[in-house]
Amino acid sequence: MATSVACLPGDGIGPEVMAEATRALDALGIEHAEHPFGGAAIDALGTPLPEETLVAAREADAVLVGAVGGPQWEPGACEKGLIDLRAALEVYANLRPAGNLLIVRELVGGLYYGARGTRADGTVFDTCEYTPAQVERVARRAFELARSRSGKLVSVDKANVMETGRLWRRVVSELATDYPDVELKHGLVDSVAMWIVMHPEEFDVLVMENTFGDILSDVAAGVSGGLGLAASASLGDGAPGIFEPVHGSAPDIAGTGAANPAAMLRSLALALEHSLGEPEQARRVEEAVDATLASTPTRDVGGTATTREFGDAALEALQVAVG
Ligand code: NAD
Ligand code: IPM
Ligand code: MN
Repeated sequence: MATSVACLPGDGIGPEVMAEATRALDALGIEHAEHPFGGAAIDALGTPLPEETLVAAREADAVLVGAVGGPQWEPGACEKGLIDLRAALEVYANLRPAGNLLIVRELVGGLYYGARGTRADGTVFDTCEYTPAQVERVARRAFELARSRSGKLVSVDKANVMETGRLWRRVVSELATDYPDVELKHGLVDSVAMWIVMHPEEFDVLVMENTFGDILSDVAAGVSGGLGLAASASLGDGAPGIFEPVHGSAPDIAGTGAANPAAMLRSLALALEHSLGEPEQARRVEEAVDATLASTPTRDVGGTATTREFGDAALEALQVAVG
């Protein structure tokens, strides 16, 4: 069967940046189909993750997501579709490169997936929960990535306060004996946040709990050019992975043509590399994006180009490369 990509455009700028990724898929000759997701799916079908979308995602070789959410829906309603999709595909390792560093965010456990609820007295709670196995599998992925890069890994936790932080530190420390070639350091999340802002160049691979990774990946994006550039790959033990920008639906700029599609196109490059077995095409997309950021920058990176103008230039660069 031919390689196929499930595209879930979602809401706000999601469909705007997805349009540029689908043009690139066409140029590369890769089959793709769009499916309703997020607020758009709530409006059309009453649920953020319709069954047909989940089935299509499971059957695809890779899933591309634009972004979900917006002020017109109940808080959390659209986002639940994304949280459920990640869990359904069990993509536990979320790779978020930003500048020179790579955040590996645990994606299907921790505070996002622990017990939650409301008590009779009105108390509302979310709990952070991890099994040792959940920590181990994402840590192993981070050690492997560190080994393939500079050999440096920082494990981030809150072991000075949280039980899950102490479990995290113990499991990662024990695993380190399997990776004597990787230099492991532990850091507390608050001070690591400060160090990323002050000295991002001192880090290579970092691994952390779901919520910590959500926050620190926006921080890392902020010190390396902004959210318009930051891509991510969410991987499990088999295909398909989910590939999506770190940014959201950006309601403040949706419909204005100001969205930078670089993060979406870089997410496509990560899909080509990690799920579609096309490292050479991935490199071409990366190079086309880098060239376009220099020649045709959008507003968020100091230029004036619209989403479509950026997409046009990137497509042209890609077509020259593909021939
Ligand atoms: P956001 O990431 O959508 O926007 C933050 C800021 O960055 C805004 O000023 C926005 O204009 C800017 N920005 C984001 N992407 C950009 C791009 N490609 N080009 C230029 N500028 C860009 O965060 P938010 O405003 O806090 O959240 C809006 C909605 O998006 C919320 O409903 C949130 O839950 C959702 N969200 C979804 C995802 C996702 O689907 N993966 C990720 C993050 C947030
Ligand atoms: C992200 C987003 C999501 C998250 C939301 C939309 C559920 O902020 O991918 O970073 O918190 O994981
Ligand atoms: Mn986020």
